[in-house]
Amino acid sequence: MSDDASTWNRLAGRYDRIVRLFDTSYPRVRARLADDLPPGRVLELAAGTGQFTLDLARRADALIATDVSPEMVAALTDAVAGAANIETRITSAYAIDAPAAHFDAVFCANALHVMDDPDRALAEIHRVLRPAGALLAPTFLHGADPARRALSRALSLISPFVARSRFTLAGLTDRITAAGFTITHAERMPGLFPLGYVAARRAG
Ligand SMILES: C[S@@+](CC[C@H](N)C(=O)[O-])C[C@H]1O[C@@H](n2cnc3c(N)ncnc32)[C@H](O)[C@@H]1O
Repeated sequence: MSDDASTWNRLAGRYDRIVRLFDTSYPRVRARLADDLPPGRVLELAAGTGQFTLDLARRADALIATDVSPEMVAALTDAVAGAANIETRITSAYAIDAPAAHFDAVFCANALHVMDDPDRALAEIHRVLRPAGALLAPTFLHGADPARRALSRALSLISPFVARSRFTLAGLTDRITAAGFTITHAERMPGLFPLGYVAARRAG
């Protein structure tokens, strides 16, 4: 099992309580879905316990909601039980079990900054999205300013929520652009850590 999975397995039981400290921007993300999430085949990566999954399913024709952590996927599966258009799966963002150009949209919230290798995840997302398919990647900006950077470093000493990348909004959009995407909307949403809300289209 990957390090990513074992860390998050330990957190799954208390994740819903912990995320409340950070999730003040989540209603604004939900409000953006009507503009930015096309219907059709949608993949959710790093879904955790499903903070956004039912919102995504209201717009998707078919949603595959995934996470690398089996414990997170167990909680997610309970949370979405009964929704006819949602399938849950254990999946690493680095190795998505789907053919090329399969999905109309990929949603990946609060996750690129906790991954060891976000560029590898972005390359896989690019592979599985159809040309002009949508990527929505709301990502906490632990490098938004010097105070947030210092807070993030301090928290990493005492909390299991470690940001492996301390993005600014410009740094995040540069990484997504470099992976072969065209940014369609980028916004800094306020919070304890600001959320870099990025919507993009697969170029080419
Ligand atoms: C902070 S939680 C975010 C959960 C949810 N998206 C949210 O916004 O509340 C980060 C999630 O990323 C998952 N994760 C970390 N590395 C991953 C990877 N390489 N592939 C897939 N999921 C990963 C973790 O298991 C965890 O559930």
